[in-house]
Parts: sequence; structure tokens; C-alpha cells
Amino acid sequence: MTKKPFLWGGALAAHQFEGGWNEGGKGPSVVDVMTAGAHGVARQITQDIEAGKFYPNHTAIDFYHHYKEDIKLFAELGLKCLRTSIAWTRIFPKGDELEPNEAGLQFYDDVFDELIANGIEPVITLSHFEIPLHIARQYGGFRNRKTVEFFERFAISCFERYKNKVKYWMTFNEINNQMDTSNPIFFWTNSGVQVKPGENPQEVLYQVAHYELLASAKAVIAGKKINPNFEIGCMISHVPIYPYSCNPEDMMASEIAMHQRFFFPDVHVRGYYPSYALKEFEREGYQLDITEEDLACLKQGTVDYIGFSYYMSTVVKADVNNDNRDNIVNGALPNAVENPYIKSSDWGWPIDPEGLRYTLNRLYDRYQLPLFIVENGFGAIDELEHDNQIHDKPRIEYLGAHIKAMQKAMNYDGVDVIGYTAWGIIDVVSFTTGEMKKRYGVIYVDRDNEGNGSMKRYKKESFEWYKNVIKTNGQSL
Ligand code: BG6
Repeated sequence: MTKKPFLWGGALAAHQFEGGWNEGGKGPSVVDVMTAGAHGVARQITQDIEAGKFYPNHTAIDFYHHYKEDIKLFAELGLKCLRTSIAWTRIFPKGDELEPNEAGLQFYDDVFDELIANGIEPVITLSHFEIPLHIARQYGGFRNRKTVEFFERFAISCFERYKNKVKYWMTFNEINNQMDTSNPIFFWTNSGVQVKPGENPQEVLYQVAHYELLASAKAVIAGKKINPNFEIGCMISHVPIYPYSCNPEDMMASEIAMHQRFFFPDVHVRGYYPSYALKEFEREGYQLDITEEDLACLKQGTVDYIGFSYYMSTVVKADVNNDNRDNIVNGALPNAVENPYIKSSDWGWPIDPEGLRYTLNRLYDRYQLPLFIVENGFGAIDELEHDNQIHDKPRIEYLGAHIKAMQKAMNYDGVDVIGYTAWGIIDVVSFTTGEMKKRYGVIYVDRDNEGNGSMKRYKKESFEWYKNVIKTNGQSL
């Protein structure tokens, strides 16, 4: 069991809250060409930034100009850590430069200093859907081996600059989202890749995945040389896949579907490709550029811990085949069905706290590495009332139930959990929909879907609640 103080915190990602998309020498990233969508309406990826279109991440909640005020609120909340990311395009605006952009490096120095002065440890993801647009357009993102080199240079610049300020790092956020090749935004934000007509998305996926896993391993190797005390983790989205029934066929369908969840962490943690993947490459005749030298790198650059997000679970049934992908519950899986035992959020995300305990057990049994819950939260509509109060009881219920499930996994099942960072601790632009209306924060930001609002910050009811959770080390829920 971990002896260190538990890392209670909040989680954010540069592109979803910083704004200042073209300030301080920053270049455009893949998210800067994504328009706003809504529940059931996909975000568009435009070729470049087009006049007359609204790109919600450009301004987001303007942390770039509000960071002192926001960090003050985080300190009042008692956060022990803030998990956020470094926008790659602030450091390397195009991605292929040889030298980093000093103004970008300085911005994160200022932010990290401010956090540390307020007793908050920065926990940093290197790439949270923020690949430079230039790399995507000119090099095809992670289709290209050169991008491995660009990422390594970016990682080294960050490790060197912040080696005395940051201990916990993660390489790629939710690297496994792209396993769902049916939704273009996952490939685009994970890897800067768009599938071309006539291509086999699955084959593209495995090549891209290999370069990205290699880039992650190279970053780990380089990071450990710069500071051997770094803790460098991976970051995966974990949505457990239950069998619909005890019918052995449903059980097997869920077991096979879980390979989609385990493929990336299997390589990050063990340092080699799992046999089910090697069999798939062979069976399908995929021609992948994987060298002996790459394999040696994967072996050497394994991670120290597993960071993961947990929001929901899903269910598969062997005799179901959803041909119409739009009707699929939770994307990706063609045999997914509704879980009749649990409710869903307004955005159709199933609410399943027990699934977090299950996930913690499953990941710990498989990998025996410390686990860090770096995202968990409830996206909902919040109303700012006349007296400036926001009553967000459903969020308190959601977070409380998930924290309880985590405590059960730690105290009863003996799972080693380093920390818990609630997603979107302050309202941010939603990743999948680009909306402001889908709010996660314990701090409300006066900004709407169309970009109107005063940007003023207000504490929600959940603010005092979470503050007390942290103060009592999780005793008061
Ligand atoms: C995770 C991402 O997928 O879930 C975050 O790492 C994202 O970037 C979060 O915001 C919640 O998703 P959404 O679409 O509700 O914002």
C-alpha cells in the first residue's frame, strides 16, 4: 500500500481551458481547427482556421489570463495536485523546429511556480490531444516516424526545463481512444491522423499506435536520464466491457472486446506486444514498420504507474450486430447494448461507480503497478441562480459514489492508488462535443456555447463538499 500522502486533485487539459491559442508565440494545434458540436452532433475538423466558424478552444475559459485567480481558488479548495497538460504548440509552435519557444516555456514556469507557491503539485501530461497542426498536415501526424523524433524533442525540452518542479508525468492522454476508428475525432486528436478513402483503418491504427508507443518509450528513457526520480506513467481511458449475461458466448465477447482496452497498457507496462495483437497482425497480413531496435526501446521504456480516466462502463452481447454505427451505445463496439441496471447522464454516459472498483481490481491484478485515477467526473447542465448559487447535487452524488468505490478497492481489496483528480475541476470546453454547457467543475465559469459571458468564476455547492473531502482525506463524503 502506498505510504505517501494521497494526491487529491483536479484535472484539466491545456486546450480545454487555457485559451490564448495564438499568444506567446503559440502555434495552432489539431484542436484549434475543431468547431463546436453538441450531443449527437459531431465536431467538424476544418482544413485550417476558417473565417466565420466558431472554434471554442481558441479562448476556452481564458486561464491564460486568469491563472493567478484560478490557482487561488484551487488553493482554497485544498487541492494537493493539479493534473494538466503542456500545449505542445506553445513549446514548438509548428512541431518540427529544433529549438523551443522561450515564451511558451516561461508561461508554464509561471504557472508551475504559482501552483507550487500555493502548495499544489503539478502533475503533467505531455500530450493531451494537442499535436501541432503543422505536424498533422505536413507529416501526417503519427503516421510518420519523424513525429517520434519531434515528440521526443518536445518531451526532453519539458523534462529539462521542469525537472525540479514536476515529478509525476504522463506521456499521451487516453492514447487508446483511437481504437474506435469509427469516430474521426479520436484519430485526429490522439495522433493527427485522418483516414483516407480506401485505407484499412485498423492497419493505419496499428502503425500509428506503434510510433506513438515508441515515442512514449523514448520519452520515458530520456526522462529517467534527466531525473531518475521522475515517475512517468501512461494514460488510458478505461471503460470496462461487461458481458450482457452469463451465457459463455457473452462472456467470451466481453473478454475479446477487452483487448481493445488492454492493447496500449499491455505494451506501455510490459514492454512488448501481447500475443493476441501479434496474431491479429499475422492473421490480417498487416505490413507494419516495427524494427528490432524499436522493440528494444519498448522493452526499456516501460512506465512507472498507470494513469487512467474512468467515467462509465459498457456492455456487449454476442448475438448483437449494430450495423448503423450512429446507434451504437458508447461508440466503438458493434455488439454494445444498454445496461438495464444503471442510469445514464444527459449525454448518455452510463453512471456506474461499482465499475470503478472493478476497474481498479482488474488493472491492478493484471499489471501490479500503482494506479492514478487522473480523470473522473460528471458532465451536466448547471444553472447559475439569481443569488449566484449553483446547486449541483447530482455531481456531489456522482463523485461521492465513485470515491467510495475507490476507497473500497484500496482498503478492502488492497489496490495501490496514488491519487484521484476530479475531471474539469473548473468548467472547461467539453472534448467530445465542444460545448461549455456540459460542465464538470466545482467552479462555474460564466461562458456559454456560443462564447458569450463575463468569464466570472463562481463556487458551486460541490466546491465546499470537495474541499471537505480533501480536508478529511476522504472521510467526509
Ligand atoms: C476524457 C478526456 O475523454 O474525458 C478529456 O481526457 C475530456 O479531455 C473528458 O474532456 C470528458 O469528456 P467530454 O467529452 O465530456 O469533455
